[in-house]
Amino acid sequence: MNEVEARKLEHLEVATTLDVNTHRGPGWQDIHLLHQPLPELDVEELNLSIELLGRRLRYPVVISAMTGGHERAHELNAILARAAQRFGLAMGLGSQRAALKDPNLAYTYRVAREQAPDALLIANIGAAQLIPQSRPQPLTVDQLQGLVEMIGADALAIHLNWLEEAIQTEGDRRARGCLEAIEHVAHSIRVPLIVKETGAGLSRPVGKRAIEAGAAALDVGGVGGTSFAAVEAIRAERRGDARGARLGDVFRDWGIPTAVAVVEVADLGRPVVATGGLRTGLDAAKALALGATAVGIARPLLQAAVQGDDALAAWLTQFLEELRVAMFLTGSARPEQLRQARRVITGETAAWLQQLGYLK
Ligand SMILES: Cc1cc2nc3c(=O)[nH]c(=O)nc-3n(C[C@H](O)[C@H](O)[C@H](O)COP(=O)(O)O)c2cc1C
Repeated sequence: MNEVEARKLEHLEVATTLDVNTHRGPGWQDIHLLHQPLPELDVEELNLSIELLGRRLRYPVVISAMTGGHERAHELNAILARAAQRFGLAMGLGSQRAALKDPNLAYTYRVAREQAPDALLIANIGAAQLIPQSRPQPLTVDQLQGLVEMIGADALAIHLNWLEEAIQTEGDRRARGCLEAIEHVAHSIRVPLIVKETGAGLSRPVGKRAIEAGAAALDVGGVGGTSFAAVEAIRAERRGDARGARLGDVFRDWGIPTAVAVVEVADLGRPVVATGGLRTGLDAAKALALGATAVGIARPLLQAAVQGDDALAAWLTQFLEELRVAMFLTGSARPEQLRQARRVITGETAAWLQQLGYLK
């Protein structure tokens, strides 16, 4: 097993068996949607479908990028993809770097298209791979196009994970030139580009720059769910790396909470995926009310997928039912109508939004 393969397998094991959530919440607890005592619609009328990057999804849900690159990932990607197909969701694949290192691993990603012939599938690569690091050369546009074709992807996500890279002993620490590289890819690749954070949150200035560089959509990947600092702290501790373990603990909650990140980028004129600590359908309703187009869910789906197709379907069914009830009780017949739902914002999230100039 190569180094990337082994790391991805360990991420999977740590994320499904240990507590790697941030201690700080994503902010949903501070968002209160006002009850509409006279919804004036029937639950059967609700239509949860949305359009994302020119494709219609039956529900405003993206299975977030997680895995690929080893046999276990092959099984899990098959399960996740079957759910994407069955429920009409979008699905992101985990970083495809492993398959570039070893083309024999392509099948662990390709299975997603086999099992989800109609789903909006999103290819994935880290921004660090686009710029020269100490070892490998940056990826070429042809290589990236190859990743897209590997899974018949409808879009390519470039993930920003500098928090993780900074903590990982073997992490890539050269970030200079990243935006320019993203711009080059956006203008050369044949599918829409998504710029995606992985748990430290996108900000408004970065969202703007990403769009100017050609991003067709943003995934906020905010604080409040899986903490990659926590994941890397555990990995470092296992290796007796005191530096990494301590860094991971200190930066466990680093970043912009998901609710704040959604507000930061909601009105930049591109679709926004709210990812990071989405755990209930009510959380999703709040994210959509703040301006997200769809929500992204990662770790809970992985934990359900580990138990099989039925457990994953049950988790999603419950989540979607919660979203439906929240829409009904706010009188929102469609996901976009949640934006008009009256709300009160309290606590830490109100303080963040106030200081960033969104609330008086
Ligand atoms: C095991 C695991 C692996 C992940 N790998 C990737 C990845 O390869 N690329 C990526 O963009 N995000 C990756 N992520 C980040 C997720 O897509 C998501 O942004 C993050 O986990 C926050 O969502 P959550 O709180 O619902 O878990 C990974 C997450 C997990 C749990």
